[in-house]
Amino acid sequence: MTNLDYEKGNLTFDNLIIKDITKEIETPFYCYSLNHLKDQYKSLNNAINLQNYEICYAVKSNSNQSIIKNFANMGSGADVVSIGEMKRALKADIAPNKIVFSGVGKNANEIKYALENDILMFNVESISELKKISNEAVAQSKKAPIAIRINPDISAGGNEKISTGKAQDKFGISWKDALKIYEYASSLPGIEIKGIDAHIGSQINQLEPFSHSFDILKQITNMLRDKGFKIDVIDVGGGLGVKYSNDEIPLDTEKYGKLLSDKFGNIDCKIIIEPGRFLTANAGILVTKILHIKESDIKNFTIVDAGMNDFIRPTLYGAHHEVMTLKEPDNSQALKYDLVGPVCETGDFFAKDINLKNINEGDFLVICSTGAYGSVQSSNYNTRASIDELLINNGEYEIIRKRIDEDTIINKDIISKWV
Ligand SMILES: Cc1ncc(COP(=O)(O)O)c(C=O)c1O
Repeated sequence: MTNLDYEKGNLTFDNLIIKDITKEIETPFYCYSLNHLKDQYKSLNNAINLQNYEICYAVKSNSNQSIIKNFANMGSGADVVSIGEMKRALKADIAPNKIVFSGVGKNANEIKYALENDILMFNVESISELKKISNEAVAQSKKAPIAIRINPDISAGGNEKISTGKAQDKFGISWKDALKIYEYASSLPGIEIKGIDAHIGSQINQLEPFSHSFDILKQITNMLRDKGFKIDVIDVGGGLGVKYSNDEIPLDTEKYGKLLSDKFGNIDCKIIIEPGRFLTANAGILVTKILHIKESDIKNFTIVDAGMNDFIRPTLYGAHHEVMTLKEPDNSQALKYDLVGPVCETGDFFAKDINLKNINEGDFLVICSTGAYGSVQSSNYNTRASIDELLINNGEYEIIRKRIDEDTIINKDIISKWV
């Protein structure tokens, strides 16, 4: 997988021998390649040939401030979905006028904070939200810049849980109601109509769903302009797919860039792209230690020290992640194992029936492509500590998030006076 190679029998990540890190850092830990993060951003940026566009990194995929700051340094804006993500983006030096605020359930506090900070725009998902944003804007003697997130009724994405653009999904407002809602928005005193938005799903490897969604966005933009609405921004969402397995064919970024030009080259709008996974997924690995090996006639298990609380994608989405040993596999016979964690759930697994060779208790394994939707979805289930995150750059590493040990977590509890 990306940036992972065997050198003299040892697995290296971005030229650093992973075994050496395990001598200093307690497993499990996440590790990110700064070079890969940069390369992904550059490859997308280079593929886009529009006059006026903004890449707004979808912070939800990996919200570590070092990662956000790296993209900020490269010129990126941010797509955020909570006050927490907005604060992280601002702290990591994303300019407020490059922040778009997405999400179906923005609360009053979040709306207030976003308005106070003069973000680029709210991607609005309901009439109820529109009214609340308008009221808060009036209270602050401002006009809130908004785009309506339309639901284009398109099926797309790696699996049902990450598909967001079908009519029955909770996201957006039906494209059929676009005119009605823009008319309503323009009647509200605190609203400034700025644009239109759609995000149809995640891990999309084909161009066709994007093409369909872009067509709908373009048609509605033209229709709204004909009716006299000012549409200056088209936010096309994220969703660009990546390679998770050796036989997966990821989205062709060049073709994606060309599609953007074909559809929006002549439209005189700022185009916003909100990639998350594309920028971060293959920049990350999860390093874990084998605690126990349990073999039987029926099934073999490799039990590691990382759990579903650290990395939930396999059990949550049935996601596939390649697994590699730190020692280069030799010619010996492989055995089939389920790779599982210590959490008391049968769903606590990372891979099923994978071939592993010559593994021993105390050895380390790497779970690949865990940079997106990895650490951000972690929890302290089973009162497990949260784990370190490291950044690798040209043969060196740095801790960019410290583990939170179980005592700190336990000390957050308050024993009630009634017990
Ligand atoms: C509104 C919005 N934009 C962008 C993204 C990023 O998607 P991806 O990581 O697939 O690029 C998401 C992901 O859920 C999203 O909900």
